[in-house]
Amino acid sequence: MTKAAIIGAGYVGSTAAYVLAMKGLVDEVALVDILDKPTQGKALDIYEGTGVFGLDVKVKGGHDYSLIDGSDVVVITAGVPRKPDQKREDTLKVNAKIMKDVMSQVQAHAPDAIIVIVSNPLDAMTYLAAKESGIDKQKIVGMAGTLDTTRFKTFISEKSGVGPGKIEAMVLGGHGDLMVPLSRLATVDGKPLHTALSDEIIKGLEDRTRKGGAEIVNLLGNGSAYFAVGGAIYEVLEAIFTENGKVVPVSAWLSGQYGMTDLFLGVPCKLDKNGVQEIVELDLNEDELAALQQSGDAVKELIKELDSM
Ligand code: APR
Repeated sequence: MTKAAIIGAGYVGSTAAYVLAMKGLVDEVALVDILDKPTQGKALDIYEGTGVFGLDVKVKGGHDYSLIDGSDVVVITAGVPRKPDQKREDTLKVNAKIMKDVMSQVQAHAPDAIIVIVSNPLDAMTYLAAKESGIDKQKIVGMAGTLDTTRFKTFISEKSGVGPGKIEAMVLGGHGDLMVPLSRLATVDGKPLHTALSDEIIKGLEDRTRKGGAEIVNLLGNGSAYFAVGGAIYEVLEAIFTENGKVVPVSAWLSGQYGMTDLFLGVPCKLDKNGVQEIVELDLNEDELAALQQSGDAVKELIKELDSM
């Protein structure tokens, strides 16, 4: 029996639950939120969809944390999304309060689970969740890099005309304006990205990726992205449950890797059922490393704010 739980059954949480169930990744999905009946309703709606695909997946939901008992992985999406005039960082205080509340319940009901944080500001919330729970830092990651990476790949695909399945790319760093799309190492149909597209176009794609979340927020007018987010959460859980050995960018605890310590930051990782198996250290050039460290510095500022609360 494999089980994934999702805390926060809003747009992101319910979309993630839908993707996990419809891909048949686990035997059971639990959805928990402060709202009881609407969460029961969403879970039932998703459960009723499993028949279409002939899947034997149980989906349960509600406000009772006993629903998450026995979970192998707990995904936390509880929190408020940013508004069009806000940065992710502007939700720090309100989401920190929610995160503390949620983590105490998660520790009581699923103390052995691997934790995947999705609430923003992502890297700071992952730090807070780890600090509040005292959990082994290998057992907790933040999901943002797989989202930023699918955005980057999609934009490259759109410009190059090559399907995203033939594009290799990765976005590292914090989930904010200073994230680092690694264009130099990206490939299109096996060839370096810079041979497929001009430097100017590549710069434009990097910029669009950094502002990818804001682009959606501005279009929606109310709330932030959730469809691509649900898929990006799936990608992280797939790596954990299937131990497929895929290197995925997640926010992981750094203890010297890439010249940084004592923070969670988006880096390439191999995941397994115990969490982070290995942080992969890519051979970055001086500029890329400096950009990654600058992004890390911005995350450290938020951590300072959290520590002083
Ligand atoms: N415990 C459990 N659930 C909570 C709590 C809490 N203490 N506080 C809020 N929630 C729930 C809300 O009831 C709501 O259903 O979190 C859910 C948030 O859902 P949405 O408002 O739809 O927000 P969403 O778009 O899903 O974004 C959630 O994910 O991507 C990030 O930036 C985003 O931080 C935001 C989070």
